[in-house]
Amino acid sequence: PRKMRIVMMGLGIVGGGVWRRVAEHPDRFEIVRVMVRSPDKYIDQGYPEDVLTTDSSDLFAAKPDIFIDVSGPIDPALQLTRDMLAKGVHVVSANKQAIATGGQSLLDQASPGAQLLFSSAAGGGMPVLEMCIRERGRIARVEALLNGTTNFMLGEMDRGMSYENALKLAQDRGYAEADPTSDVDGHDAAAKIRLVSLLGFGEELTPEQIARDTLAQVGNKPEPGTVLKRVARVSGDTGELVADLRLRALSPNNFLAKAEGEDAHAVFDFTDGDRYVIRGKGAGRWPTTESVMADLYDLSNSNENASN
Ligand code: HSE
Repeated sequence: PRKMRIVMMGLGIVGGGVWRRVAEHPDRFEIVRVMVRSPDKYIDQGYPEDVLTTDSSDLFAAKPDIFIDVSGPIDPALQLTRDMLAKGVHVVSANKQAIATGGQSLLDQASPGAQLLFSSAAGGGMPVLEMCIRERGRIARVEALLNGTTNFMLGEMDRGMSYENALKLAQDRGYAEADPTSDVDGHDAAAKIRLVSLLGFGEELTPEQIARDTLAQVGNKPEPGTVLKRVARVSGDTGELVADLRLRALSPNNFLAKAEGEDAHAVFDFTDGDRYVIRGKGAGRWPTTESVMADLYDLSNSNENASN
């Protein structure tokens, strides 16, 4: 098969993981350029200097087959994603904010020759978006834990750790965003809720349409005999789509209550009364990296079929 040329933006927790995993497939992929803000930092870490750039025009000049977006902010990610698709470059994105903001018009820009894959953008290693795509049209309601940092912190705080120390530990373990405010305030989960509503229900929600509880609203102790979780919900039960992110005291028997640490759980209720539950690691370098790799393998396989 022809080797696919990859350019990438971001070299943080997930980017570093992708760099290492892609290197295990030198026959299939080659990372030719990586855009970062401060190349010196990465040169010190041993990354080759000639691969690093701060200039997005170098990414286009490298004639890529695939653009991997493992950056956090919307800007410049969304514009770059649009420009790559317009140039016939496949995009694999872990950037939930950029994809949620781009919404349906961004999805519409993709084509067989310029695919947009983002299975890592929600749920880490839990296939929540894959389920949304597959089951669209018969989903009544999705309830899920969509932020690993928060779930991990709630567990530690329940065992007596302070909010600050729990957040620090979540950062040390690589669960939190570069700016962890978006984890605790719920903006990270809200972006994932928007992806679930877009793919699972075909509806675009604005951030303002999603009522959010922040983690700072947690009192000292949950009600005895309950487990406190911050549950993301997207529901079409009443005809109109309703989405929110709420702190809820769950019964210990509830499937969502059983998610430990950075685990992510999701419950899909279907209009015919059927129910699916799925689970996985919701955050962290390797679960998220493996979702990016799954998208890369999909592209590599279709590339191979096309050249046969
Ligand atoms: N910061 C995110 C989380 C990473 O804690 O869930 C995975 O999207």
